[in-house]
Amino acid sequence: MSRRKLAKFEENYLRKNVIEQGKSIYDQIKGNWNKEVFKNDNPIVLELACGNGEYSTGMASIFPDKNFIGVDIKGDRLWNGSTEAIDNELNNVAFLRCQILNLPNFFEKNEVDEIWIVFPDPRPRSRDAKRRLTHSRFLNIYQNILKNGGWLRFKTDSFPLFEYTLEELEGIKTSDLEYTKDLYNSDLIEEHYGINTRYEKMFSKKGFKINYLKFKFDQ
Ligand SMILES: C[S@@+](CC[C@H](N)C(=O)[O-])C[C@H]1O[C@@H](n2cnc3c(N)ncnc32)[C@H](O)[C@@H]1O
Repeated sequence: MSRRKLAKFEENYLRKNVIEQGKSIYDQIKGNWNKEVFKNDNPIVLELACGNGEYSTGMASIFPDKNFIGVDIKGDRLWNGSTEAIDNELNNVAFLRCQILNLPNFFEKNEVDEIWIVFPDPRPRSRDAKRRLTHSRFLNIYQNILKNGGWLRFKTDSFPLFEYTLEELEGIKTSDLEYTKDLYNSDLIEEHYGINTRYEKMFSKKGFKINYLKFKFDQ
């Protein structure tokens, strides 16, 4: 591991806005995010596969009355989001380092108000379908931790992943599903908030259209 990466990991360990293995809070956080981390009763919004956490920090500054949690497995990327939050004194954003499959270990049923999945890895090989973050086994997890009526929002440059996701949604009960295969030329652009993540910038520059959908689970 590079020295730079190691230094970031050491800083993460000392930071209050990074929740990761090895800290006592990691095993006690389930059901306690607002009490232990945010110290308020505001709604909780998750950004899954957050990478550098641009969505979480961007939204946290636009919506100071909501709490944002960026989730990713890569500690060095989370360090970037954590640094941005500290530099801008954003106390309504935190980062959780974990496998998304393990979310039930960190969130109580109905603890979350909204979920964003922002440019996840497309996992194009069919043998990797189970690893796609919109595979039904992940959707079941999201449904369990999301409050009744909470939005799930999903953005991707990958048309095959988007089509796959729409097919997965046919297998479950949803309501209020809306989508566009060209977000920048759609009325749904209002829900973009002008926040461009690293991958969004990269793929928009290459001329890819951005696909976006939102829905609620029908309980
Ligand atoms: C393509 S990057 C997108 C990053 C960011 N959302 C963006 O738009 O720039 C996908 C991210 O998902 C994370 N990731 C992929 N699968 C994951 C999983 N099962 N659990 C946690 N993180 C995961 C990766 O570490 C990576 O940072």
